[in-house]
Amino acid sequence: NKPIYILGIESSCDDTSAAVICNGKILSNVVANQEIHTKYGGVVPELASRAHQQNIVPVIQQAIQQANIDKKDLNAIAFTRGPGLMGSLLVGTSFAKSLSLALDIPLIAVNHMQGHVLAHFIEEENQQIPPFPFICLTISGGHTQIVKITNHFNMEVLGETLDDAVGEAFDKSAKILGLPYPGGPLIDKYAQLGNPKAFKFTKPRVNDLNFSFSGLKTGILYFIQKKVKENSNFIQENLNDICASIQHTIVEILFEKLKKTVQQTGIKHIAIAGGVSANSEIRKVLKGTEEKFGWKTYIPKFEYTTDNAAMIAIVGYLKYLENNFSEESTSATARLKV
Ligand code: KG4
Ligand code: ZN
Repeated sequence: NKPIYILGIESSCDDTSAAVICNGKILSNVVANQEIHTKYGGVVPELASRAHQQNIVPVIQQAIQQANIDKKDLNAIAFTRGPGLMGSLLVGTSFAKSLSLALDIPLIAVNHMQGHVLAHFIEEENQQIPPFPFICLTISGGHTQIVKITNHFNMEVLGETLDDAVGEAFDKSAKILGLPYPGGPLIDKYAQLGNPKAFKFTKPRVNDLNFSFSGLKTGILYFIQKKVKENSNFIQENLNDICASIQHTIVEILFEKLKKTVQQTGIKHIAIAGGVSANSEIRKVLKGTEEKFGWKTYIPKFEYTTDNAAMIAIVGYLKYLENNFSEESTSATARLKV
């Protein structure tokens, strides 16, 4: 069992991240968040690319240093090929190619969405690895998917959002309430002190296992505008209850579809992944299904939920074991499918 060291690089959106993995175990996972977007209320692609350009060298150096290895020890470079913002992806892709050329080691292109799902295969203490086949609800700022995983690289999207992602529903609702970007974690925080049944929002009607969140956002906007007209302090006086009610509605939408997925597929091994899987209510409700419905659930470690390079590194390792390498001509692809 000789050690295989792989460097993972993630730069698909607004986080620059690098991680080193050794045979399934993470040695380092450095993430540089880009504060710059906060004041714009969302990610500005042009600014994201520039920040990646500035962050990428120090982030990679730090990841190698923290792993306590020399860059000459690396066996391969894994990087996010897509999906994501083109300018952001290009920074990581070009850097990965140059480094693989300089060190004369293989290059491994990774699909970001597979990364979110396969983060469950990072070896951690007291952690259960999901058996195949399992279902993963991947929920982030850019995606909302129900995926059936039959082996590491065989994934089928059973349902997805027709418009906004769940993370956008959280972030846009937060923006309506005057909260800074990204608002998801703040809604989570205030919701813990509020009554989830205080206000009722209309849930979308969507067929099959697909989702829609844009109508919910509009419903919340009109509701808040009406209430603020009646009482200009409405938001301040009811922030906890509003957040709890929004979160409750979103969680109900997600779990109705998950229940339907279990009915249709008969698969009861259910994982969650992506930035929104950090949400405390989603985690709690999912855990509760073990006793309630006999599901077996898999919840990722907090640091592997939002965008990170550890998840890219584990995919890199799994592909390395299969000699699944990429050509130097591999290009960044903004709309890469799972
Ligand atoms: O996976 P991620 O880091 O980036 C994308 O690939 O999009 O997900 C970021 C999203 C943001 O929308 C953020 O608001 C949301 O994850 N998020 C949360 C929580 N933590 C992060 N949403 C709800 N509750 C949370 N605790
Ligand atoms: Zn992501």
